[in-house]
Amino acid sequence: MQKIPEEIYSRIDNNIYNLEGARWWQPDFSLNLIRTLFNPFRVGYAKKIIEQIIKADQAKTRVLEVGCGGGILTEEIAKMGFITTGIDPSDPSLNTAVEHSKENNLKIKYEKGTGENLPFPANSFDVVLCCDVLEHVNDLPKVISEISRVLKNGGVLIYDTFNRTTFSKLSAIKILQEWKRWAIMPPDLHVWEMFIKPDEMRSLLKENKLVWKEHRGLKPSISYPKMLYYLHKRAIGELTYEEFGKKFLMVESNSTQIMYMGYAVKYE
Ligand SMILES: C[S@@+](CC[C@H](N)C(=O)[O-])C[C@H]1O[C@@H](n2cnc3c(N)ncnc32)[C@H](O)[C@@H]1O
Repeated sequence: MQKIPEEIYSRIDNNIYNLEGARWWQPDFSLNLIRTLFNPFRVGYAKKIIEQIIKADQAKTRVLEVGCGGGILTEEIAKMGFITTGIDPSDPSLNTAVEHSKENNLKIKYEKGTGENLPFPANSFDVVLCCDVLEHVNDLPKVISEISRVLKNGGVLIYDTFNRTTFSKLSAIKILQEWKRWAIMPPDLHVWEMFIKPDEMRSLLKENKLVWKEHRGLKPSISYPKMLYYLHKRAIGELTYEEFGKKFLMVESNSTQIMYMGYAVKYE
């Protein structure tokens, strides 16, 4: 897999994390849906995998979240008792993350940086989390190589991302971003060509001393017609984002057609 061509990368709006960076924790905000819809599954998944793979005490286990945004996932990791670091390129998002962690008495080290150039020495972390970020980066092979570099031997990478299928184009791009009847997300939040097929992910991991272990699909906990109904209610303003976010969760599925979560272990 190659770096994303400039004409494709220029279409994604990663500036939203600067412009809206103060809003991550506001309940009636689109990106706060990550907290209500996605965190329940992915936090449980991350906890299970870390407990399975990393045998050290939580208080001695170093976890890095790459692309931490406002700290919605980072805080859950810190609450589990791990030594937690988050990095992100967006200053406004990081400011929000720092402030929110202070308000909640959580010890988290936040730093500015990109996945392509992680500001840490080799073999620094037991765990790297990279959730809803890989489909946003300019140079995916470099990000995976950097994650592998900073992971200790036997350390684990846990990630989730979007698959590049006809179904993901229809659901994540057309319905969620483009078709006004249902669209509730910013129009350039995701660019379909930047989505990653599970096979591409497996190859990249293998090229970077990361032994792929599994992929689990994600799907809504309600039927698709019911989800469309709630999307429409949100799109026309009859539901707030907060109310919409209480209608369902993303849960584990055997189908990786839209999104998948997985992990890989580093071996020298
Ligand atoms: C959808 S948000 C996910 C935030 C967080 N991981 C979560 O799930 O709550 C995507 C994040 O990726 C960050 N990002 C964009 N390009 C990046 C890069 N090259 N390296 C690291 N993070 C990046 C953005 O600033 C944004 O905070």
